[in-house]
Amino acid sequence: RTRIFSGVKPTGHLTLGNYLGAVRGWVEEDQHRAEALFCVVDLHALTVDHDPARVRRLTRQAATLLLASGLDPEVCTVFVQSRVDEHARLSYLMECTASDGEMRRMIQYKEKTAREQARGGSVRLSLLTYPALMAADILAYGAHEVPVGEDQAQHVELTRDLAIRFNQRYGATFVVPRATVPKVAARVMDLQEPTSKMGKSHDRTAGIVYLLDEPEVVRKKVMRAVTDGGSEVVYDRAERPGLANLLDVLAACTGGDPERLAGGYDAYGALKKDVAEAVVETLRPVRERHAALAAEPGYVDEVLGRGAERARDMARPRVDAAYRAMGLLA
Ligand code: TYM
Repeated sequence: RTRIFSGVKPTGHLTLGNYLGAVRGWVEEDQHRAEALFCVVDLHALTVDHDPARVRRLTRQAATLLLASGLDPEVCTVFVQSRVDEHARLSYLMECTASDGEMRRMIQYKEKTAREQARGGSVRLSLLTYPALMAADILAYGAHEVPVGEDQAQHVELTRDLAIRFNQRYGATFVVPRATVPKVAARVMDLQEPTSKMGKSHDRTAGIVYLLDEPEVVRKKVMRAVTDGGSEVVYDRAERPGLANLLDVLAACTGGDPERLAGGYDAYGALKKDVAEAVVETLRPVRERHAALAAEPGYVDEVLGRGAERARDMARPRVDAAYRAMGLLA
């Protein structure tokens, strides 16, 4: 049976980008068509400056939101990365498989390093080795497919390279995975800065819609979205990125096609109103179920406990085999 793995990093509140680019596909398709695991990757949250209490809170919130979005723990496995030692164990072997140069070429590393250095801060070593841990996440489970937004495709590509290299050097051990990216909204842009990704850890929040934003807040953020000069409503990602982003979001929320949708509007105002309502309606059930689940922390704990146990059982044999294949006495 096809196996699927994906994850979300608890460095901030989950956004509309996380939802449309990844989580919704996990809920609507992936969990039903494959043996699927979905992970809140808290170890990854320690690669940048962090507050321990906040990471702990965000980890629980992210797990609760995955369930609120519709992941069904009877159908798939939902768990927290740090509860399963296999991730850290295999990550070290991946560091011994990857080269320094290929890690430094990662776009996310270059961007985050530049940002950190501009602030005069230092960069954690784990930010550089991040893709080794991510490769371990995926390879430990023998996942065939990794459903992600566009920004993670490069990391999955590196994971493929590492799997192929490991198999060639030490014998067939890992499944070589591939990324799957949604057709619309694979890269939701910031509403205020439509040339950069809507990211959960950005400081300026006016352009970011969070899954738990109140409807009034969502409406305000969408109505204030930056649109580009000109008045005609056309779908042109290169020349009119703000407008294209709104059309992508509308298409993703209503199931339409962004280019066709553009033809139905002759003014920005009407488009924004429809986008705002579509987003509010898309997020409403998630917010409501989140509130219900948050009132029942025992249930979430129980799901995460079961999930970690199942994940451990699935990962251990393959990670043990990788240890032996590399020459360790494990
Ligand atoms: P993270 O936490 O940044 O994002 C979680 C998922 O949401 C997608 N995404 C977006 N999609 C469209 N538009 C956006 N603006 C947007 N922002 C985020 C991401 O592509 C991702 O699919 N390194 C990963 C977490 C990770 C992982 C893994 C994923 C760790 N190990 C193994 C898959 C498999 C990350 O930081 O995602």
